[in-house]
Amino acid sequence: MKLVFPENFIWGVAYSSHQVEGNNDNNDWWAWEQKGKTKEKSGWACDSWNRYLIDHQLAQELGCSAFRLSLEWSRIEPIEGKFSVAALEHYQRVLRDLKRRKMKRVVTLWHWTLPLWLVERYGGWHKKEIVDLFIKYCEKVLKELGEEIDIFVTLNEPIVPLNSGYLSGQFPPGKHNPFLYRRARQHLILAHQESYRIAKKIKPLLPVGITTLYNFFEPASSHWQWAAKKVSDWYNHYILDKINDFQDFVGIDYYFHNKIALSFKLPFYQCNENKKVSDLGWEIFPRGIYGVTKDAWERYQKPIYIFENGLADAKDQYRAEFIYDHLRWLYKAIQEGVDIRGYFHWSLIDNFEWTKGFKPRFGLCEINYQTMARRPRSSFYSYQKIIQVNGIEE
Ligand code: FCB
Repeated sequence: MKLVFPENFIWGVAYSSHQVEGNNDNNDWWAWEQKGKTKEKSGWACDSWNRYLIDHQLAQELGCSAFRLSLEWSRIEPIEGKFSVAALEHYQRVLRDLKRRKMKRVVTLWHWTLPLWLVERYGGWHKKEIVDLFIKYCEKVLKELGEEIDIFVTLNEPIVPLNSGYLSGQFPPGKHNPFLYRRARQHLILAHQESYRIAKKIKPLLPVGITTLYNFFEPASSHWQWAAKKVSDWYNHYILDKINDFQDFVGIDYYFHNKIALSFKLPFYQCNENKKVSDLGWEIFPRGIYGVTKDAWERYQKPIYIFENGLADAKDQYRAEFIYDHLRWLYKAIQEGVDIRGYFHWSLIDNFEWTKGFKPRFGLCEINYQTMARRPRSSFYSYQKIIQVNGIEE
């Protein structure tokens, strides 16, 4: 039996500026890397700043109808208040090329990196000045590049840099401070809300939202552990709850399943079965994508995009099956009335995985970092087949 997806369902791939462009030496992550806080330094990354045409070609070969990428704030505004015409023109070329190849341009405004001048002068998201600075950046981008953007994602997974930058201290600015966390969270919310208003003024029909790391939480047992789930739901949905009047869609990045329980040692502990895990030890749990899309639909009643889903799998042993199984569950959610508009695989190519460096291999295409050559893995062709028939054969 064939499971056919809705007619205009969007098939895409995703990546982000700092993880692929290379030589982004003017942002806080670069500085973080120089301090030895990551396994490796991003360096030339995938050199996609220069090789984007090759990436586009690969996405086109896949048959993608959309491509998700992010803009690098530190390139667009290398000095406070001074916007780089060269960088804006570069992104214009990138986006126009995607259009020529008939792919919708999903553009993320902020995928975790901040310009160095900003953090040196103001500190980061915990400082109130950042809201205005972000809005100015947003306005400039929309005025200069708005014509070339089809879907606008202001923030990528704000909860991750909040948790890792303000609680565990693994990401810049490396804080362990719940008060700063709260302030930073508030500024992210304001920055998004204001960007939404600006976008509606400049380009009223442009769909605008954020994307959220939407983990699938399940209580470890059916009894009092529901309390653990309630608390984690509240914590994880906080931002979306605050911005639902300022989003045209719900963007979901689905990677994990977390079976959780309350414990006395830590607030929560995880007890996943981990029968099958990726190279990063993340449990492969396709049913979770059904759980999170149903949940998001119930809570927010907005069209849903899966803007990221994928796994680190250097040997490409699970990727094809992973995609297939996740799509089967997505299909079920669609059949049950959830308005899911698209699926973006993370990622088109292997890339720089933040603190973990280059070892995790998330790509449908393998990168040889010596030569920068891209080579499609076998799962590339499985995804291509799915896109070709707009569905999956059971
Ligand atoms: C997501 C991030 C993305 C990438 C994947 C593996 O949380 O948005 O940049 O690192 O995880």
